[in-house]
Amino acid sequence: MRTNAFGVWIVNLIVLLFAANAYAKDYSDYKICRFNNESRFAYIISKLKDLAMIKQDYEFDIWAKSKSHEVMDVRIHNDILEQFPDCTIIIEDLDAAISETKSSTQEGPFSNSGFQDFFDSSKKPKDIFFNEYRDLDTIYTWLDLLQLSFPNLVTVEWTGQTFEGRDLKALHISTNNVEKNPDKKTIIITGGVHAREWISVSTVCYTIFQLLSRYGQSDTETKFLDHLDFLIIPVFNPDGYVYTWTHDRLWRKNRQQTYFPRCFGIDIDHSFDFQWTGSNNFPCSENYSGESPFEALEAESWDEYVNKVKSEYNIHGYLDFHSYAQEVLYPYGYSCDALPRDLENLLELSYGLSKAIRRKSGKNYHVLSSCEDRGSDLQPGLGSGSALDYMYHHRAYWAFQLKLRDTGNHGFLLPAKYIVPVGEEIYAAVQYFCEFILNPDL
Ligand SMILES: *[C@@H]1O[C@H](CO)[C@@H](O)[C@H](O)[C@H]1NC(C)=O
Ligand SMILES: *[C@@H]1O[C@H](CO)[C@@H](O)[C@H](O)[C@H]1NC(C)=O
Ligand SMILES: [Zn+2]
Repeated sequence: MRTNAFGVWIVNLIVLLFAANAYAKDYSDYKICRFNNESRFAYIISKLKDLAMIKQDYEFDIWAKSKSHEVMDVRIHNDILEQFPDCTIIIEDLDAAISETKSSTQEGPFSNSGFQDFFDSSKKPKDIFFNEYRDLDTIYTWLDLLQLSFPNLVTVEWTGQTFEGRDLKALHISTNNVEKNPDKKTIIITGGVHAREWISVSTVCYTIFQLLSRYGQSDTETKFLDHLDFLIIPVFNPDGYVYTWTHDRLWRKNRQQTYFPRCFGIDIDHSFDFQWTGSNNFPCSENYSGESPFEALEAESWDEYVNKVKSEYNIHGYLDFHSYAQEVLYPYGYSCDALPRDLENLLELSYGLSKAIRRKSGKNYHVLSSCEDRGSDLQPGLGSGSALDYMYHHRAYWAFQLKLRDTGNHGFLLPAKYIVPVGEEIYAAVQYFCEFILNPDL
């Protein structure tokens, strides 16, 4: 009886282990195409839409359509590729590119390296954490351990719950220095709004790592943390992020039920209540905005947290990390006709961020308005309801969205060896941002 039960347990375990792989969405029938002729983009999209009507497998996904590079990258089914003669294939083997972002040894948080490896003997975090992308459990445990390592600096704060019941967590870094930061000047940094943009999550963690480990060691970081509070959310979309680890590496939205039974997920970055338009898009679409603003639970909880729980904090800066395209985007996203306040300084700061990155790594990040990136210059409503616009309009004096590396060789599937280089160049931009905000002349 005992042995039997144990046997059943083993079989179940094996089934589970295999299932984890069997469930993972297979992309072997797709390639990533790049198109260079801008005047043909509209035609290509409408043709793709027609083909997608014929057969569900022909669903396509626009990965990037950016003004700064004048290219459009699209995931297209192999069977219809020949109908697009001007396609240049940039990712031939999508499944191989996907597995390159996952470590071969990593199965769970504890299998690869125990948490003791992530901290040195004096409880300081170590950079080995950035050798690989980390799953949600590992990141959340890492945040909890940071709180233990820096009890006078770090608080993990619960900001709400996702549709699938996961915790939404923010890291509040504060020296509670009432003398040096009397009016609670605060910088907010978020990543992982879009589930598949793993590099945005690792880069937020890298920023946390740098700020904390340099405090008290370097004059710069000591000044930042004494004079500023930081509210940092590495994984804005936990359900989606977990889903990209277990089911579909290229998932983008959250995992909320929609009115359409078979389609899950709201695009969180179309859910914020500023210039929200419930564009006539379908719940199955990658950029589905929901039926009303703040329907995405993550956006709603965030609003509650920042605007109610943290209402006495003065948000001077907001940085939202995404990928990919290597761009510094300034508001607004919803319309190119809407002029942001203080445009001149906003531009100066944008170019400063881009220059800080270039000086660090030589990488070029284009500066442009978010509306151009989101296509709202071509079609109104495309860029509506973004976190950037909402935060800029309601809470943060300075606000940017940074689209991290690369420019398309790997797209959303940036291999783990780039985690540190991207972390370093973006951290240089974060330092510039803090210096700018602490500049007494502004
Ligand atoms: C781009 O497409 C337009 C419209 O199809 C065509 O007239 C033009 O020659 C193309 N340009 C290039 C550089 O291929
Ligand atoms: C969503 O994306 C599709 C293409 O994938 C596009 O046609 C549509 O206009 C987009 N809608 C919004 C609201 O961004
Ligand atoms: Zn994104």
